Amino acid sequence: MSVIAPTDTTYTRFAEDQAYVQANNAFVERLPLAPVTRILDLACGTGAVGQLLMARAPKASLHGIDLDPVQIGLAAENYARLGYTVRVGDEALATPPAGAQRTVSLVVGSAEVLPFPQATFDCVTIANAIHLIADKDGLAGSIARVLQPGGIFAFSSGFYAGCWPPVTQQVYYEWLKEATAWIARFSAERVAAGEPPIRRVRGKSYLSPVAYQNRWLTPAEWRELLNAKGFEVLDLNERAVMFDHHSLASVGAYSGLAEAQLAGYPVELASQALANTAALALESANVTSVQHNWLEICAVRRAS
Ligand SMILES: C[S@@+](CC[C@H](N)C(=O)[O-])C[C@H]1O[C@@H](n2cnc3c(N)ncnc32)[C@H](O)[C@@H]1O
Repeated sequence: MSVIAPTDTTYTRFAEDQAYVQANNAFVERLPLAPVTRILDLACGTGAVGQLLMARAPKASLHGIDLDPVQIGLAAENYARLGYTVRVGDEALATPPAGAQRTVSLVVGSAEVLPFPQATFDCVTIANAIHLIADKDGLAGSIARVLQPGGIFAFSSGFYAGCWPPVTQQVYYEWLKEATAWIARFSAERVAAGEPPIRRVRGKSYLSPVAYQNRWLTPAEWRELLNAKGFEVLDLNERAVMFDHHSLASVGAYSGLAEAQLAGYPVELASQALANTAALALESANVTSVQHNWLEICAVRRAS
C-alpha cells in the first residue's frame, strides 16, 4: 500500500450521511421559508442544504456561492438532476429575471465578497460553514446589506463554544492520534519499499482551512453579534447529533476536515487515515457513537 490510492475527498459522502442529513433536515424545517423568493446560500458546497431549502421554498430561486470549484461543479450536477434550471459562471451573478423561479445560479467565490446590490435577497443562509469565516462581524454586515428588511438570515454550525461534550473531545483527540499513527505506518512501509517517506509540509492547503484557528463563539455571543449588526434572533437552537463510525469516517474523508485536522500531509492520505481510524477512535473511549452539538440560528433583518 505504498502508493497513495485515489480517494473521493469531496463533501459528497458526508453530505449523504444519515445523521448529517437528519440534522440538516431538522435545521431547515424550523425556518419560515414558505414566502421566500430569493435565497442566497453561502458556502453552498454540493448543494446538500440548498436543495432542502428549495424544497421548502416553492416560490424561490437560489444563488449559491462556494470557494471550491469542485463543490460548485457537483452542486450544478445535483441541482440539474433535480430538474432546476442551473446557471453557472458570469451569467450566474446576474439577478434572475422576474418570474424565474426555481433557477439555481452557482458562482465560485468567497462568502465574504457579495457582488450583489443592496436588498437583493429575502433569505441568506450559510449551512455548516460559518465557523470557516474569520471576520464574522464583516460577514454579518455584508449579509445585512444584501438582505431586504424583514428578510431572514439563518445558519447552522457544528463548531461553536459548547459543540463538544468532554467524551467527544476525548474521542476526537484519540482519532487524531490514531490517524497520525496510521500515516506513520504508511510512511514506514514506503521507506521499506525504497520509496521516500511521507513528509508533512504545512501551509500548502488550497482552501486554507480555518475552522480550528477561528474563535468559536458561544450562542450568547452569536446573539449579541447579530443584534449589533441589525438582526433580531427569532430562533436559537442547539441540536445533539450522534455520530457513529460511519458518520465519522465520512466526515474524515472530506478534504475540508482532513486538511484542517492533518494539515500538511497529502490530502488524500489524510482523508484515508481519518476514514480508516474512525472506528478505532470510538473504541478507544469504549463508545459506539459521539454527541456533536449543532448550533442553529434564524434571525430577521430589522427595518432600520
Ligand atoms: C462543510 S461544507 C458545507 C457545505 C454546505 N453548506 C452544506 O451544508 O452541505 C463547507 C463549504 O464551505 C466552503 N467554504 C469555505 N470557506 C469559504 C468561503 N470563505 N467562502 C465560500 N465558501 C467557503 C467550502 O469550500 C465547503 O464547500
